[in-house]
Amino acid sequence: MSVSSFSFPFSLLFFSLLTTTTTTVATTIGVTYNPTDTLPPPEHVAGALQTLKIPAVRLPQPDPSVVRACSYCNTSLLLTVPNSLVPSFATNRSAAELWLYTHVVPFHPRARISAISVGSDTPSDASDLSSSLLPAIRNLHSSLSDLGLRHISVSTTFSFINTLTTSFPPSSAEFQQPLNDIIIKPLLQFLEETNSSFLINLYPYNVYKLNSEIPIGYALFQEQPFNFRDDHVTGVRYRNLFDMMVDAVVAAMAVSGHENIPIIVTETGWPSSASGAGNTNDGEASPVFAEMYLKGLLLHLNSGLGTPLRKEGVAEAYIYQLFDNGTEQGSNGVVGGSEQRWGIVYPNMTMKYRITFSGGSGRVGGAPVGMVIGVVLVVGVLLFRKDLVACS
Ligand SMILES: *[C@@H]1O[C@H](CO)[C@@H](O)[C@H](O)[C@H]1NC(C)=O
Ligand SMILES: *[C@@H]1O[C@H](CO)[C@@H](O)[C@H](O)[C@H]1NC(C)=O
Ligand SMILES: *[C@@H]1O[C@H](CO)[C@@H](O)[C@H](O)[C@H]1NC(C)=O
Ligand SMILES: *[C@@H]1O[C@H](CO)[C@@H](O)[C@H](O)[C@H]1NC(C)=O
Ligand SMILES: *[C@@H]1O[C@H](CO)[C@@H](O)[C@H](O)[C@H]1NC(C)=O
Repeated sequence: MSVSSFSFPFSLLFFSLLTTTTTTVATTIGVTYNPTDTLPPPEHVAGALQTLKIPAVRLPQPDPSVVRACSYCNTSLLLTVPNSLVPSFATNRSAAELWLYTHVVPFHPRARISAISVGSDTPSDASDLSSSLLPAIRNLHSSLSDLGLRHISVSTTFSFINTLTTSFPPSSAEFQQPLNDIIIKPLLQFLEETNSSFLINLYPYNVYKLNSEIPIGYALFQEQPFNFRDDHVTGVRYRNLFDMMVDAVVAAMAVSGHENIPIIVTETGWPSSASGAGNTNDGEASPVFAEMYLKGLLLHLNSGLGTPLRKEGVAEAYIYQLFDNGTEQGSNGVVGGSEQRWGIVYPNMTMKYRITFSGGSGRVGGAPVGMVIGVVLVVGVLLFRKDLVACS
């Protein structure tokens, strides 16, 4: 590709810095596991997780038997408290303690539970959980402390399309109001104080479906000469939609005054089929595109290159989901109330796609000139983000 095709030469240098001097560790890539009666028993699944070398598992509906099964394989666990329990956790700390006594304490320390999400996508839940979410999070956190389980962090999960105002340009993204003032700002304060992460379901598929001008290759990590978008405010170039969405979250956190909180992508993926209302098939939801997305995601996250605004990238990312258990109603924050198929493994334990989890972290030598210019640019971006904070 010729340099003249770049409209913003600085961004090229900025990228060369990231590719030549970054020594960050690669993102931990896991899967979401939803056990159902039609799937193999959790003990078998735990064995498969180890064979596939999957280092982290997110359990949206953690049943104690599943936590037990997963305590015998070497994966870290991210548990989720169902939305229905949030109000009782908020008003009654014993309810939070009881939940810990059934889901966590019996399996500690063998089960490597890293974090607990109190609720998931609660703003779009029909019941109004806005007043109970933060008290519930605080009660669970205090209960963990009382039990001496301070290493387990507590947070909640948002959905990108229900939380952010825009994805482009990323630098102008903010959290939606009144959600930001009521929940997100105080939550970010809590996350900073407790060394916890911001959890978000992030589907480039959704943003692609809502914006017809986005080229499909840009959403699928296909590096092509004209597959890029420049954020003219920060002067950085985006080569895939995933990074753009992550940086929209980074920018929105900066506007809310907390720019350094680690980000965990609790769900991402691409459906292998989808049919909308009236049974129209969605041609872009195909096994070929799903495999391209997942391969591109794994390659990108294993490279350790991070995003333009966050060189360490996201801390963890969980593919939605482990099993293809047939069609399911469009839920998990995906647009269009359609029937979709997800999953990377069939119920008979054969892989649906040729993907592999065991990627090494990309680490390359540094270039002195790139480093100096890069540092100047990084400082520039930081100053820019300070401005954002100041004028918010
Ligand atoms: C597949 O799993 C999802 C998520 O747990 C669930 O909503 C759906 O009903 C399941 N489908 C079948 C056919 O079991
Ligand atoms: C268990 O996982 C940790 C972190 O992913 C890794 O460092 C360690 O080598 C693994 N142990 C075994 C026995 O696989
Ligand atoms: C609080 O939760 C515990 C455990 O679920 C329950 O036994 C108790 O009745 C609850 N108290 C109130 C006031 O709801
Ligand atoms: C914060 O969490 C990270 C990763 O979970 C850990 O390495 C670090 O030691 C923690 N810092 C504090 C101050 O607890
Ligand atoms: C496993 O299931 C898939 C989907 O139903 C099927 O295509 C494949 O042939 C099966 N593999 C084996 C070894 O049974």
